[in-house]
Amino acid sequence: MSLPDSTHLPVVLDRLRRPLRDLRISVTDRCNFRCTYCMPAGVFGENYRFLPRKDVLRFEEIERLVQLIVKQGARKLRITGGEPLVRAELPTLLRALARIPNVEDLALTTNGYLLSEQAKDLKAAGLQRLTISLDSLDSDTFAKLNGRGYALQRVLQGIQSAENAGYRQIKINAVIQRGVNEPDVLALAEYFRGTGHILRFIEFMDVGTMNDWKPRDVVGGDEILHTLSEHWPLEPIDPNYRGEVATRYQYADGAGEIGLIRSVTAPFCGDCTRARLSADGRLVTCLFAQSGLDLKTPLRDGISDAKLEAMLRGFWSERHDRYSEERASLHEERLKSGRIEMFEIGG
Ligand code: GTP
Ligand code: 5AD
Ligand code: SF4
Ligand code: SF4
Repeated sequence: MSLPDSTHLPVVLDRLRRPLRDLRISVTDRCNFRCTYCMPAGVFGENYRFLPRKDVLRFEEIERLVQLIVKQGARKLRITGGEPLVRAELPTLLRALARIPNVEDLALTTNGYLLSEQAKDLKAAGLQRLTISLDSLDSDTFAKLNGRGYALQRVLQGIQSAENAGYRQIKINAVIQRGVNEPDVLALAEYFRGTGHILRFIEFMDVGTMNDWKPRDVVGGDEILHTLSEHWPLEPIDPNYRGEVATRYQYADGAGEIGLIRSVTAPFCGDCTRARLSADGRLVTCLFAQSGLDLKTPLRDGISDAKLEAMLRGFWSERHDRYSEERASLHEERLKSGRIEMFEIGG
């Protein structure tokens, strides 16, 4: 029997008529880094209680949920954390996800520190694309930002290993903060020009409750574009797909592509087709959500596929999130209270 053509599957739309297209899957809330803006070392010390093992979804559980979420329209999968490479046996999960019919894209976001050891195996298991977070090429700034004094060199080696493994695409994500790593805009651009990797600059966001975000800490995409253009002229290029979070530019001299993720100065909620599955099985429909739909409990209570699907459809069809577009008009309490942390849903 042939599989149905994915374009003819019924699609569930949310209240703003947005389909579900991308699923980001957090496989752990743990991380080997303590980035100052995500898991500050002072808060996430020895005594911090991450999820107990029993509350973290097992691979079979993730696989079953993903199958059903793909049935509702998701086509792109991205593995996140915390830091996904600290989860044991990750290739086993990737192999299972890569086999699910209608999954068109399988990517992973990592801080790169454990990549040298794992890049090849992950690729062999079916991972297609890699995104590596790298905010600074200055050893001291990098050591400070990761909160553990870890060496920059190791991440650069990780990127090298990914190149050697032959991934279809490698992206580098850099969050730029005012007064912290502004000089890295030029340093990163210079380093990655001509490598074929796509460097993206992300505006620093007020995600979670940990980073003491102030509007003045944001280095806007326009400013970054201006800084870069003074050195290397850039030309805008069309998005790869509707709702792509990065706006794309190419160097006029042919040295490759960069992206700007202007989530603060130019929010893209109107086309947001992303859902996030936390490591403990909550489905979250916005990066700035305060809660998610608990799927683990019904799953472990033996719910049928049909009932789970109905839950998923109901949840997505009620969705009306557009936090980044509403940010300016929200009150301080709503801005901070009880928000899910970035390391729970991996960005
Ligand atoms: P591609 O599939 O390669 O296009 O990846 P992507 O750009 O969708 O994913 P990636 O994880 O690289 O996203 C980069 C960063 O953009 C994330 O880490 C977030 O900081 C930010 N981001 C991604 N999705 C959203 C979103 O839905 N809302 C907001 N506000 N920011 C987002
Ligand atoms: N603003 C923007 N990006 C962030 N990330 C983590 N916290 C923030 C924030 N406050 C990024 C990480 C990584 C991705 C998972 O999310 O740097 O690239
Ligand atoms: Fe840093 Fe990502 Fe780890 Fe958060 S999850 S501490 S952003 S490496
Ligand atoms: Fe989507 Fe929420 Fe980000 Fe807007 S703020 S783009 S709704 S995740």
